[in-house]
Amino acid sequence: MMWNSFLFFFFSFFIFNLGFLEAQKVPAIYVFGDSLVDVGNNNYLNDTLLKAMFPYYGIDFPTKKPAGRFSNGKNAADLIAEKIGVPTSPPYLSLVSKIKNNNRNVSFLGGVSFASGGAAIFNVTHKSFWGSIPLTTQVDYYSQMCDQLTQQIGASTLQKHISESIFLVVIGNNDIFNYFNSKDLQKKNTPQKYVKSMASSLKVQLQRLYKSGSRRFEIAGVAAIGCCPTLRVKNKTECFSEANLLSVEFNKELQSMLKQWESENKNISYSFFDTYSAIQDIIHDPTSHGFVDVKAACCGDGELNAEYLCLPSSNICSNRQDHIFWDAVHPTEAATRIIVDRLFNGPSKYTYPVNMKELLHVSIAQSLNPFNFFILLGLLVTCYQINTN
Ligand SMILES: *[C@@H]1O[C@H](CO)[C@@H](O)[C@H](O)[C@H]1NC(C)=O
Ligand SMILES: *[C@@H]1O[C@H](CO)[C@@H](O)[C@H](O)[C@H]1NC(C)=O
Ligand SMILES: *[C@@H]1O[C@H](CO)[C@@H](O)[C@H](O)[C@H]1NC(C)=O
Ligand SMILES: *[C@@H]1O[C@H](CO)[C@@H](O)[C@H](O)[C@H]1NC(C)=O
Ligand SMILES: *[C@@H]1O[C@H](CO)[C@@H](O)[C@H](O)[C@H]1NC(C)=O
Repeated sequence: MMWNSFLFFFFSFFIFNLGFLEAQKVPAIYVFGDSLVDVGNNNYLNDTLLKAMFPYYGIDFPTKKPAGRFSNGKNAADLIAEKIGVPTSPPYLSLVSKIKNNNRNVSFLGGVSFASGGAAIFNVTHKSFWGSIPLTTQVDYYSQMCDQLTQQIGASTLQKHISESIFLVVIGNNDIFNYFNSKDLQKKNTPQKYVKSMASSLKVQLQRLYKSGSRRFEIAGVAAIGCCPTLRVKNKTECFSEANLLSVEFNKELQSMLKQWESENKNISYSFFDTYSAIQDIIHDPTSHGFVDVKAACCGDGELNAEYLCLPSSNICSNRQDHIFWDAVHPTEAATRIIVDRLFNGPSKYTYPVNMKELLHVSIAQSLNPFNFFILLGLLVTCYQINTN
């Protein structure tokens, strides 16, 4: 009897440790996208006004100071890294600047963020006053990084590292905003044509990442853009339907593009996250998620605090935990925590074909030697039989 219990304990422990090893298996996260995941690249840009370097940004960050995040505290990039158990990937431009200053203690192997507030799939924001790093340029930077790493550690070591790393892509939100801010874009594109073109342009960049050897992708759809305070003020504080419709249409296009893309290439593992539905479900049932105000920004000016982003002179709400929106377009850390939990743990209502937790396991299962797997299964069955006899 004691022997059986011991065996059971031993194998439980073994399985537990296997799970633990799986969680350790991600060597790095490489991040591409917009302000939802920018952790400070924009602070290094010369031509953008879109920088989270003034109060009250970062008021709830561990340092209590502006931290390059468009949030009161941590953003989605931080919270996803927390879930995986790795440090937040530092901004690419901060690493480049350290290298320029002859700091030799800089590595791209612990993960890098190329994300930039205001960035979009299309290049347009590049020319506008925002001056962000558009997706194409983010991938250009990534390619330059790969060239350097190839020289440092060799192609095959790099390939292994890249194929095991997670590629997080959060983009498209600003393309939706830009469509409603530009009569010209609306004149030249029907909504349907616009979202199709967004998805096919994104596919070009994903394919460039794939060609570099990346295989594991976490890809977020766009949010419920029409429910941001900045667009709510266009509809007497209700969500602006056209922008929500375009968001839904893009997410559909994105999902079918990803399916197609996966079928055209070998060994891709991806998880799509339906950001739109996750946010809508909180907006429709705020109290059970701990929120009181789903409409107004916590920090800002004018109606719904939606006139500008958060400025040192802005109004700031008394309880940052009970607002979904921190400023006119960005969620609070409190809302982001719930959304990132859905992205990581599912349920399948929000994630397709797997959630992020499963994505971390998928590649491991593929690389698990089938022989070992059957030995393990045999041991488990034996163990179970001994225990039930
Ligand atoms: C910003 O300007 C400085 C000084 O002119 C320059 O060294 C730096 O490379 C520029 N940064 C970017 C991202 O263009
Ligand atoms: C180099 O980086 C490591 C890990 O980030 C850190 O522990 C160490 O103190 C750094 N060394 C120097 C000289 O900055
Ligand atoms: C953005 O510009 C670059 C270089 O000018 C070009 O190669 C790329 O195709 C453009 N991307 C999109 C989505 O238009
Ligand atoms: C305004 O909100 C109402 C209620 O949600 C909705 O039915 C209507 O379509 C919206 N109008 C616009 C222009 O977004
Ligand atoms: C796909 O994975 C298999 C098994 O690990 C490997 O042999 C093959 O080279 C991979 N193909 C590509 C294109 O990555």
